[in-house]
Amino acid sequence: MSSAVEAALSAALKAIAGAKDLDDLKAVKIAHVGDKSELGKASQSLGKLPPEERAEFGKVVGAAKGAVASAYETRQQELELERDARVLIEERVDVTLPYQGSLKGGLHPLTILTNEISDLFIGLGYRVAEGPELESEWLNFDALNIPVDHPARTMQDTFFVEPLAARLVLRTHTSPVQIRTMLENEPPIYVICPGRTYRADELDATHTPVFSQVEGLVVDRGITMADLKGTLDYFARSMFGPDVKTRLRPSFFPFTEPSAEVDFFFNGRWVEWGGCGMVNPKVLQACGIDTEEFSGFAFGMGLERTLMVKHGITDMHDIVEGDIRFSQAFGTGSR
Ligand code: FA5
Ligand code: MG
Repeated sequence: MSSAVEAALSAALKAIAGAKDLDDLKAVKIAHVGDKSELGKASQSLGKLPPEERAEFGKVVGAAKGAVASAYETRQQELELERDARVLIEERVDVTLPYQGSLKGGLHPLTILTNEISDLFIGLGYRVAEGPELESEWLNFDALNIPVDHPARTMQDTFFVEPLAARLVLRTHTSPVQIRTMLENEPPIYVICPGRTYRADELDATHTPVFSQVEGLVVDRGITMADLKGTLDYFARSMFGPDVKTRLRPSFFPFTEPSAEVDFFFNGRWVEWGGCGMVNPKVLQACGIDTEEFSGFAFGMGLERTLMVKHGITDMHDIVEGDIRFSQAFGTGSR
């Protein structure tokens, strides 16, 4: 009997020593220590032995099981160390390899520009004002002294919104926010209003039917055309750098008097940047502002055109068509 145990013991020790990895070792345990193994059967047979043999044989079996258990534990520790060392090498991360990460989103270039302009004017003490894109015809035109028979009010230029009796338009400029601001606030007023505007214009290199403007309005004591010119120069230089070429051209807007248009030189020609002027006293009075005490200036610039000069974009199509390659230059889709 005990020689059978000895044989089982040495077979078990040999198998444990020969286990190549932890899975192997587990299989060895089942085969050599489990209930159906030689040692297992020997343990189970103890109960059937006569008492005088049981003590002696129990010692032999117990010693064998103890030897197997400690050999098992030793081998298990060795194999665990081996596995840990192997995993460190096999699962090493090569941080220089290219990887498939998700792409970052980014702000639209017009949003970036709007934020930049807002910051610039907030730095000068202005407040940012907002108005609705769906605007009353009265605020978009009448309150700005734009007469009923003005060409801008025709269906060809302005998107009227049904039902027509509601007299609502997609605002054709940001100037109605001037009126909203003056009706709601007492001077001194220093606001800018960036926002989306709509006109029935064909899409071409310098026009789009949905575009953006930034309106500026100042009403205070002693405001003159020199303040307007100085502000516009500061605005232009901050946007385009000190070498920008701009010019003021006499013009007409019903809500400013005198009025001018600001152009910049870009891509070999003069492009209109925006309109401006001294707020027409009629408009100030209609908003309840005392024109003996206060005067003001206003301007309205195209943001897409600002973006064009700032970044050398020669065609408006690139700004509006949504090609990801265009936005990528502004940080969209970076990793
Ligand atoms: C106006 O809209 C006046 N409200 C500006 C103004 C404000 C004058 C305050 C006086 C005082 P105008 O129609 O010229 O003016 O448009 C202003 C600017 O908007 C243009 O110079 C141009 O830069 C931009 N713009 C006009 N139409 C388009 C268009 N279809 N696509 C892109 N930009 C446009
Ligand atoms: Mg114009």
